[in-house]
Formats: sequence, C-alpha cells, structure tokens
Amino acid sequence: MKIVVIGGTGLIGSKLVNKLREQGHEAVAAAPNTGVNTITGEGLAEALKGAAVVADVSNAPDWEDTAVMKFFETSTRNLLAAEAPAGVRHHVALSVVGTERMLESGYFRAKMAQENLIKSSSIPYSIVHATQFYEFVKGIAHFSTDANKVRLPPVLIQPMAADDVASGVASVAVGPPVNGTLEIGGPEQFRLDELVRRGLAAWKDPREVIADPQAHYYGIAVSENTLVPGNDARLADTTFATWLTQSAAQIPTAHPQATGVAVGSKETKGKEGQKIAS
Ligand SMILES: NC(=O)c1ccc[n+]([C@@H]2O[C@H](COP(=O)([O-])OP(=O)(O)OC[C@H]3O[C@@H](n4cnc5c(N)ncnc54)[C@H](OP(=O)(O)O)[C@@H]3O)[C@@H](O)[C@H]2O)c1
Repeated sequence: MKIVVIGGTGLIGSKLVNKLREQGHEAVAAAPNTGVNTITGEGLAEALKGAAVVADVSNAPDWEDTAVMKFFETSTRNLLAAEAPAGVRHHVALSVVGTERMLESGYFRAKMAQENLIKSSSIPYSIVHATQFYEFVKGIAHFSTDANKVRLPPVLIQPMAADDVASGVASVAVGPPVNGTLEIGGPEQFRLDELVRRGLAAWKDPREVIADPQAHYYGIAVSENTLVPGNDARLADTTFATWLTQSAAQIPTAHPQATGVAVGSKETKGKEGQKIAS
C-alpha cells in the first residue's frame, strides 16, 4: 500500500516511515526538505499519486497563536483538497490527548481547527490522540523554568515514547478508517512534577522542581485529568525508566531511506489488552 507520511522527516514521521517500510508498505516521507510543502502546495499532487493513505504527522515551525493556526488550517485544507482527486481512501492525523480541554492555548486551538477540518471533509479519517512524548519532557522543564526552579502543577500525565507513538499511528494507518478519534498513551501515570524531577535527575540537571498547584502547563491552567487519556486508550509498553536507559545509551534510530522495503513486525500488548504494533 502506498502511504504518504506528511512530516515524514520529523521525530514521529521518520520513525513512522521506517515502521511502515518494515511492514512492506511503500511509505513516502513528505516534507519541505523532500520537496513536498503542504503550505505552498509544492510537490503535493505528485506525492499523492497512487496513495491509499495519508498520515499527517507534521508540525508547525512557529507556535505563535496566529502563525500556528494559519499553518494547521492552510496545511490541512490543502492536503484534503489534494487527497480527493488522488483517490486517497484514509486520512490519518496525529493530535494530542486532551486537545479539546486545552483551548486556552493557541496551539491547541489550531490542533482543534485541524481536527474539525478533517471531520467535515469527505475523506474517511482516523484522528489519533497521543499523550506527551518522553522526548518532550526536557522541553516542559525548560518552558517552566524561572531562576533555576521548575514550577509545575502536580496534575496527572501518562506520557509515552515517540517510538510507541509511531507504532500506534502505523497500526491505525494500515487499518480501516474509524471516522472518529482514538487515544494512545504510555503504561504509567505520573504527577507532572514527579515526571520532570525524574527526568532531570537522570540527566544530572541540577534544577529544582517545585509542585505548585497554581503553576501552568505550557502557559495554560490544567486540572487533575486534563492530560490523561480515557479508559479505552491503547497503551504502549515502554516505561519512562526503560526509555531513559535506552536514550542514555543513545541507541541509534535509523533514518528513513529514499526507497527500500523490509518485512516483519512484532506486536507489544498494552495494559488494557489492546495492541500497539511496533
Ligand atoms: N510533543 C508531544 O508530546 C506531542 C504529543 C501528542 C501529539 N503530538 C503531535 O505530533 C505531531 C508531530 O510532532 P513531531 O514532534 O514529530 O514534529 P517535528 O519533529 O517537529 O516534525 C515536524 C515535521 O513537519 C514537517 N513540516 C513542517 N512544515 C511543513 C510543511 N509546510 N509541509 C509539509 N511538512 C511540513 C517538518 O518538515 P521539515 O523538517 O522539512 O521542516 C517535519 O518533518 C504534531 O502534530 C504534534 O501536535 C505531539
């Protein structure tokens, strides 16, 4: 099956392209640096020729309120418009668990706008809501640092490895459209301050993490369950401790090749008994 991965050179996209190729699919990494731009339309029609599925795991280069809204609206409109004449049968998009609960943020208003455009289009679709990536924990710490102290609300969070996110999106992309939203998450819940404290300790970062119920998450107020998925979420296996060990050992991640198909896949089982293929 030809599957075009929009944002196929990014953190999730490059892993997704590799996983789809390992399963024997023709996965195309589409991004500005491979000559495909969803904002200008450059290379889009050509890339979508013969594609059965489009998986959009792109991200905006600028997260300022107006810029990020313009990115996701323009990109999604252009993509959906190009998919119809190309005969694409399934549009998959990666978004974030709790998007609808974080609309105080310009970034999440833009993700919501992306989701609404997908829902109102004629292309069958699946929206995958993932929890925060372990790879994102450092960024959360940096954003919340003031005078060497990291202040975070002690709300629940159920993060996951980017590798598991890619596996979750891959298994949705090769399946039938759900014409709805499904959630994927990590195997454990943490308090946000505890997660960041553990990460900083592992990275030998001396910053002090303070649990502050008044503190914001990326500039917005969040409550106990804003960031956690529901009971039906598909849960991945990789724990934060395992990921920390693996990333400290700097296990190399293969980059997508221009071409190439391999066979074979394995499956890991989530806590709720649903599987995320890896
Ligand atoms: N961070 C989290 O914890 C989290 C949690 C759940 C969901 N998500 C979602 O995951 C998605 C992927 O995130 P990521 O961290 O993997 O992103 P990323 O590493 O920043 O990669 C972004 C990708 O988008 C591409 N892109 C940018 N502008 C484009 C354009 N005009 N046309 C086509 N492609 C374009 C980039 O290509 P170039 O490299 O060529 O610029 C790159 O391949 C996002 O939509 C995000 O909302 C994130």
